[in-house]
Amino acid sequence: MTVDDIAQVAEIERQIFSIPWSEKAFRDSMESDNTIYIVAKENDNVAGYAGMYLSFEEGNITNVAVNPLSRRKGIGEKIVRDILNRAYEKGVRDVFLEVRETNSVAIALYEKIGFKEEGIRKNFYDKPRENALIMWKHNL
Ligand SMILES: CC(C)(COP(=O)(O)OP(=O)(O)OC[C@H]1O[C@@H](n2cnc3c(N)ncnc32)[C@H](O)[C@@H]1OP(=O)(O)O)[C@@H](O)C(=O)NCCC(=O)NCCS
Repeated sequence: MTVDDIAQVAEIERQIFSIPWSEKAFRDSMESDNTIYIVAKENDNVAGYAGMYLSFEEGNITNVAVNPLSRRKGIGEKIVRDILNRAYEKGVRDVFLEVRETNSVAIALYEKIGFKEEGIRKNFYDKPRENALIMWKHNL
């Protein structure tokens, strides 16, 4: 992801999420030394994106989304696998993420890639209020 991608990323974000990250939130996170932000492109347009916050050997996936028009073509799986590989190269060995407990599509994607549910954060999300599953992938 570069600063030139952020307007398209934020537009997809607004379409999908009830509490979207702002352009500033993406820019600030992307420019930090301890994050990885990537995009997938189709014909020069952003089709999907993922972000991770790194803390020593631990990574936290903070963003994963695919443009609704580009789904079910393997892009989501590809960007998650790609960000895990990039994190591994930076020394990360264990990665976790939070996901809405009713988001069965994303949960299926993460399970396919080897993440397992290890806990719940009660009422983690707003709009609507909902629990988060905490999913981990260990020993990348
Ligand atoms: C979750 C998301 C990123 C998946 O992106 P995608 O590019 O459509 O997914 P892929 O085509 O790479 O699919 C990979 C796997 O995900 C699962 N999956 C994807 N779409 C699915 C669907 N509609 N129903 C069930 N499983 C699905 C399957 O396990 C699939 O593997 P398969 O093709 O072998 O069955 C996308 O649906 C999305 O952006 N959702 C809204 C945002 C979101 O929920 N982000 C996660 C927040 S934690």
